[in-house]
Amino acid sequence: MDASAIFEGLNPEQRRAIETVRGPVCILAGAGSGKTTTITRRIANQVAKGAFSADQILAVTFTDKAAREMRSRLEQLGAGGVRARTFHSAAFAQLRWFRGEPPGRVLASKALMLRQIGNTLPMPYKFRPAVDLATEVEWAKNRRLTPETYRRGLNGHEPPIPDDLMARVFREYERRKEASGAIDFEDLLGLAIKLLEDEPEALAQVHERYRAFTVDEYQDVNLLQQTLLELWLGDRDELCAVGDDYQSIYAFTGATPEYLLALPQHFPNATVVRLEANYRSTPQVLGLANRLVPRLPERALGRLRGGLQRRGDSLPGRGSADARRRPSAAQGARRLDVTHGCVRSPAPRPRARLGGDAASGPGRT
Ligand SMILES: Nc1ncnc2c1ncn2[C@@H]1O[C@H](COP(=O)(O)OP(=O)(O)OP(=O)(O)O)[C@@H](O)[C@H]1O
Ligand SMILES: [Mg+2]
Repeated sequence: MDASAIFEGLNPEQRRAIETVRGPVCILAGAGSGKTTTITRRIANQVAKGAFSADQILAVTFTDKAAREMRSRLEQLGAGGVRARTFHSAAFAQLRWFRGEPPGRVLASKALMLRQIGNTLPMPYKFRPAVDLATEVEWAKNRRLTPETYRRGLNGHEPPIPDDLMARVFREYERRKEASGAIDFEDLLGLAIKLLEDEPEALAQVHERYRAFTVDEYQDVNLLQQTLLELWLGDRDELCAVGDDYQSIYAFTGATPEYLLALPQHFPNATVVRLEANYRSTPQVLGLANRLVPRLPERALGRLRGGLQRRGDSLPGRGSADARRRPSAAQGARRLDVTHGCVRSPAPRPRARLGGDAASGPGRT
């Protein structure tokens, strides 16, 4: 492993995070500030310094694309042996490993089943779009609510149809899904949690295998994912979490930056690093964004300007983080994907998400 590549061109705060190869690290950082750069290089440094071997490290993120990006950066740094997965693919792989078979057919979409159930509702709820029902079921499941606990767990949240009817829809959805032998994305995480909660030996094996965890985009974690992460971690504190509380785009799935912000309290010995420079937004990006969205609200425009760099470099290789800050187009598209329940750009489809090595061990998740 080339140590000079790990430390090349870093700012002092990035370097501090990367040099801290042990113990909890919390990186609070804005868009394009080098978050992924910092955590991938930190992982490479953990391996280079011998703090952990590559196969003792699990890096997790939220989309297939982000996981691929992490893998490719780790490979370039000579740390290709490190697992970089989405929460869902890690859960799938652990279930497959401990059960000896895949956990079931994963439903690509809840919408079809919920359309059929919706048709049985009385007027006027009968015509409520299935996507609204699907979103509500996801809202509940991401908070670990069941059809039984759903109504008590609403806490001021307004369901798309009266709560007693919604509880009925939720129950019927679970019943039909189970009868068809299918599971949904939330079940995948829920089943992995149940496995590790119910089977101490499985949990011990996972603990034995994985000694250090890194989570990118931690502001997007929801209760299901956080619960799974806590199980993986056990009573250890080898967690590096990086995120931007301003960029949370999955609030509708129950994601909250609270976990990120609470990390320094949870681990009082955590090294807290703030990355403030923005290396990605260039005047070209701003110009392009403003041409594409000619009537950007003044507030959002302010944010785009406010996000401008101290130093610029390249144009973004993917949806620019500044574009992600705009609540309109980017988030609207994501919501649409999710509510249609079939494309789900943020919560990826399992096949695509599994990365081809899902079956190779708890450790190999
Ligand atoms: N210290 C640095 N000096 C110059 N360029 C840097 C530095 N750190 C990161 N970069 C560059 O900034 C760009 C963004 O980096 P990176 O993808 O790691 O940021 P990020 O915070 O993860 O972005 P996002 O918010 O989109 O997830 C990359 O082109 C990277 O090479
Ligand atoms: Mg990143």
